[in-house]
Amino acid sequence: MEDTVVRKKIFSGIQPSGELTLGSYMGAIRNWNALQAEYDCIYCIVDLHAITVRQDPAQLRRRCLTQLAQYVACGLDPEKCILFVQSHVPEHTELAWILGCYTQFGELSRMTQFKQKSQQHADNITAGLFTYPVLMASDILLYQADAVPVGADQKQHVELCRDIAQRFNGIYGDVFTLPEPLIPKVGARIMSLNNPLNKMSKSDPEGCVNLLDKPEDIRRKFKRAVTDSETSVRFDPDAKPGVSNLLTIYSTASGKSVEEAEAEFSGQGYGAFKTAVGDAVIELFRPIREESERLLSDKAYLEQIYRQGAERAHGIAIRTLRKVHRKLGFLSR
Ligand code: TRP
Repeated sequence: MEDTVVRKKIFSGIQPSGELTLGSYMGAIRNWNALQAEYDCIYCIVDLHAITVRQDPAQLRRRCLTQLAQYVACGLDPEKCILFVQSHVPEHTELAWILGCYTQFGELSRMTQFKQKSQQHADNITAGLFTYPVLMASDILLYQADAVPVGADQKQHVELCRDIAQRFNGIYGDVFTLPEPLIPKVGARIMSLNNPLNKMSKSDPEGCVNLLDKPEDIRRKFKRAVTDSETSVRFDPDAKPGVSNLLTIYSTASGKSVEEAEAEFSGQGYGAFKTAVGDAVIELFRPIREESERLLSDKAYLEQIYRQGAERAHGIAIRTLRKVHRKLGFLSR
């Protein structure tokens, strides 16, 4: 009975364009972990997306491997889910070309992320930056994913993916599964410790905690976290963005509710509170950092994971691509 049940499919990916952060852990990987039990999960390291802005080759290679080690150290199990590197499966770029022919220039021009990134990289606004969401649609549709866990900032891209899929299905019949974005509520938006009005981002290193940061660095960053001029530890994102962000982090790291956390620190100053949040994060990340380091010293094992992952991913992707070719009227080889 068990193996006749068709499990729903999940696809998601993170760019290897920097270190994995507290934000990527709480907003993404932690949820990916939980989804493994219920869904067929495919988790990707999206290196092709990373080169939409310039990357240093040696650093990119190192980050891809480190990211894989961290995926595994966070609990993503290569026996339960597919872990792979996007550039290892050529169907991603092949389908992206095709989907690009079913995507409007106007649609891509409206993407918020494109508008932001083309401002940030005004001297290098490439076609790749512009067609980024088409490649992302290809990632998702190749695997017929039912759901795509992403941060709120990626919702627009998943919606565009649905629009493209719907348009394609409208012309050629049922080819693609329409994916739903899965946006986590709690911990979805971890803000910068320096500037709690901005999302935690690798471009602001002191406001950002990395998964592999040493305990003393984590401690220092939390000690310096921006709060406010009151003294009460209270959750109120509008009036107290810094303290509220720290409460979210503490609650997610400790497994306690925000209300429990408020009660725990009532009457205490911000100093003790910030120290406690830092300690909770240090303990949360300690086993992950140690396991990542252990895995990184066993390159052969990591290679085996990404090779096997690419093979399994390719097996699924090629079936979708062949179907697309048939539907389009391409002569079969
Ligand atoms: N664009 C996503 C981000 O920056 C990463 C990504 C690429 C992705 N392809 C994907 C996420 C497919 C989900 C599904 O966060």
